[in-house]
Amino acid sequence: MDCSNKKIIIAIDGYSSGGKSTFAREIAARLGYIFIDTGSMYRAVTLYALDNGAVVGGVLDKDRLIGMLPDIGIGFKFNPERGASDVYVNGRNAEGRIRSIEVSGLVSEVSSIPEVRSKLVAIQQELGRDRGVVMDGRDIGTVVFPDAELKIFLTADPSVRARRRYDELRAKGVEVTYEEIERNVRERDRADETREVSPLRKADDAIVLDNSRMTLDEQMVWVMDKVEEKLCGR
Ligand code: DC
Repeated sequence: MDCSNKKIIIAIDGYSSGGKSTFAREIAARLGYIFIDTGSMYRAVTLYALDNGAVVGGVLDKDRLIGMLPDIGIGFKFNPERGASDVYVNGRNAEGRIRSIEVSGLVSEVSSIPEVRSKLVAIQQELGRDRGVVMDGRDIGTVVFPDAELKIFLTADPSVRARRRYDELRAKGVEVTYEEIERNVRERDRADETREVSPLRKADDAIVLDNSRMTLDEQMVWVMDKVEEKLCGR
């Protein structure tokens, strides 16, 4: 789709386990845009905190982590095998470790620290400076790129998201019950919506896409139509 040379920013926000990353990655691949999963950046900072003594006995020492922030370099490098960029911390590929249970258990708390958010938001804004990016997260359309040309708020029933997450974990051989996962999904929704700094909120000009009963192909047809509108000015 190249009826104009214009490059836009596509912001995708929404609840956890809603399929944001898969959706965003596919859009970026079709448009030849950069895809940035901002959750991986919060996870990378959490991993750094774990590896460098800012978590003692499972408890996060926030001041210590804030003091370490200038030492944490976050970057991305495209990994052709995944068709997406891997996140790097101080030059080391962190992608393989950022989805561990340890990181997942602490990342909400890390992402609620204002100093962490302002550091990562600045990097995200720099990555989108030339436009031509699809970025997914919780605050992309509201805080990072309030001027994004296309904002999508992705949602799905909590039970559908819990089922997807359950199937994903079981496929990896993780022993969990569906009830545990559903509780966790609802708790994370509440934490995302009620945190003080940059809570998850639909931007006023975002379009809602409920993908509870949609395949990825159906979502792509829907979104490419919206992209065409923006690029071709229909
Ligand atoms: O999307 P995810 O589950 O990988 O995100 C990990 C955590 O980071 C989750 O607790 C929400 C938080 N997050 C955020 O606060 N802001 C973003 N832009 C992206 C993620």
